[in-house]
Amino acid sequence: VISVLIPAAGSGERLGLGAKALLELNGLTLLERAIQSFSGIADEIIVALPENHLELPLQNARAVAGGSSRQASVQNLLKAATGDIVLIHDAARPFLPRAVIERVLEGVTQSGAATAALSASDTLVLENNGLWGMVVDRSSIRAVQTPQGFKRELLLEAHRKAILESVTATDDAGLVARLGLPVALCLGDERLFKVTRAGDWALALAFAPVWDADTLNDNA
Ligand code: C5P
Repeated sequence: VISVLIPAAGSGERLGLGAKALLELNGLTLLERAIQSFSGIADEIIVALPENHLELPLQNARAVAGGSSRQASVQNLLKAATGDIVLIHDAARPFLPRAVIERVLEGVTQSGAATAALSASDTLVLENNGLWGMVVDRSSIRAVQTPQGFKRELLLEAHRKAILESVTATDDAGLVARLGLPVALCLGDERLFKVTRAGDWALALAFAPVWDADTLNDNA
């Protein structure tokens, strides 16, 4: 049984357009897009919403209240989840190819925990007071995306320990990895970028019609 958990309770502060998950791209909100990505895969879908949007009608999904951080929102989602496997996906990533979900599920089966991740194409360098510092070996760097998948019991344990030890993290795979447990890195996708700043939003607006036309043809 697969539970899909969607943190969508962020305020979208860096974008400045209001609750981000409720912004529309080509007629569909980011949240609607995230939910639709899992059709036919999820046995249940649970969404963490901002307190003032809990009445939002959701097709095929239940809502819980989000928390003050992404981590707190995921904790609320986990409490409500019943599946033996949980897939966590940020509402802020509206373009999720089906193949990525399949790779992450495969990774969970093999390792117990898995995340989509992407290699870097730019040269990476540490900044030193505005100047070029040390070059980071690009070949070993991965940018971590969502979806991330876990055996539910394992992620519950990782979140329990994080609370006990006052650890905060920007994603869930990081909480599992710090317990010394394996997290499979599965190939992500450039189109899975996170809408965070104004430039991402501009890209998302321009790309949405292209993505929607693709999906009509071959389901991405
Ligand atoms: O802020 P950021 O873009 O990193 O948020 C990643 C995801 O976590 C977004 O989908 C956002 O809605 C969600 N989030 C949440 N609860 C919070 C903060 C962020 O569900 N308190």
